[in-house]
Amino acid sequence: MQATLGFERPKHILSASQFNRAFLDYMYELINQIRKFDKTKDGLMYLQSLLPHRRAMLYFTQPSTRTFMSFQAACSILGIKPSEIRDTATSSERKGESIDDSLRTFASYVDLIVMRAPVAGLSDRIATLLDATPRPVPIINAGSGPDEHPTQALLDIYTLQRSFKSASGIEGKTICMVGDLKRGRTIRSLSRLLANYPRTQLIFCSPPEFKIADDLRQFLSSRDVSFEETTNFTAAIEAADAIYMTRVQDEYDQAGATKVDTRAYCLKQEHLPLLRRDSVIMHPLPRRDELDPAIDHDPRAKYWRQERNGMWTRVALITILMGVDSHIVLPTL
Ligand code: NCD
Repeated sequence: MQATLGFERPKHILSASQFNRAFLDYMYELINQIRKFDKTKDGLMYLQSLLPHRRAMLYFTQPSTRTFMSFQAACSILGIKPSEIRDTATSSERKGESIDDSLRTFASYVDLIVMRAPVAGLSDRIATLLDATPRPVPIINAGSGPDEHPTQALLDIYTLQRSFKSASGIEGKTICMVGDLKRGRTIRSLSRLLANYPRTQLIFCSPPEFKIADDLRQFLSSRDVSFEETTNFTAAIEAADAIYMTRVQDEYDQAGATKVDTRAYCLKQEHLPLLRRDSVIMHPLPRRDELDPAIDHDPRAKYWRQERNGMWTRVALITILMGVDSHIVLPTL
C-alpha cells in the first residue's frame, strides 16, 4: 500500500521533517474517515475493536493538558489500554535509574510509547536505543523540549487543510506565526511541514529577542520556502490567511533573565477588522494574554476545533504506526 501512496510507513514519529506531502494528504483523508466512525455507536465500537490487544505508555515528564488527554482519548477510541508516568518522582528514575533504562523497561510491557520530555532529541535517542533491542516499539514524540512537537504540527496541518478546503488548500497561502518563535516547538515543527506546500509564504512576527533560530532559517532556505521576519504585528495580521498565535515559553528562561515585552504581539478584538474575512486564527494552547478570550466567538477562531482535531489526528497516527490504518476504508486518492 505504501509504495503506491508515495511514503514509507513510519516506524516512529520523531520529527516533522520525516513527513512528505503524500503522507500529509493520506493522513488528511484517514482522519476524515475516522471522524465518520465517530458519528454512530457502531462506528465507535468498530474503532474500539481495532487494537484492544495492545498497550501503550504515556510518559509525560513535562506539563501537558491537551496532548496528554488527547493521546489518552485516542488510545481509548482504539481500545488500547494506556499506562502513564507524569512525574519521575513516582518512577525508579527517583532511585537513580537512567532515562534509557526506564524507557527500555516500558518497552518490555507495552507496544507503543508516547513521550514528552524537557530534553531536545531524547525521543530520537530512545528510538535508536530500542530499535537495537529484541523488542523495539514505536515511539511518538509528544514534545521534545524547545525543539519539536510533530503531532501538534500534524494536527495544525489538518486544521489548516480543513479550513482552506474551499479555498484550494494550503498551497500559496500566507501563514503568519506570532510570539516566542525562538523556543516555541510548535512553530518549529509546523514550519517544517509547511515546506511541503508550494508557494506558501511564512511571516514570523516577534519581538527581536524571540526571532526564529538559525537552524530553522537554514532549513527553510534549503527548501526554498519564502519567509519574512518582522516586528510589525499590524502588517502581519493584514497579510495573513492564517495567524498562528503562541505564548512566551518562559519555562526555558535562564536564571535572572529579563522579561521580554510582548504587549505589542497580543491579538485583541480591536484587531479583528484588520483580519481578512476568510482568515483563520489558530493557537496550540494554552494561551495567556496573547489571545483575548473575547475573540473566541469570532467565526475565524479555530483553536477549539484545532484542539479536538488533535484527538482525531492522534487516532490516525496510532493506526498508521500499529498497521491498522488499512482497516479504515479510504476513498481512492
Ligand atoms: C504546546 C506545547 O506543549 O508545546 N502545547 C500543546 O501541546 N498544545 C504549546 C505551549 O505549551 O505553548
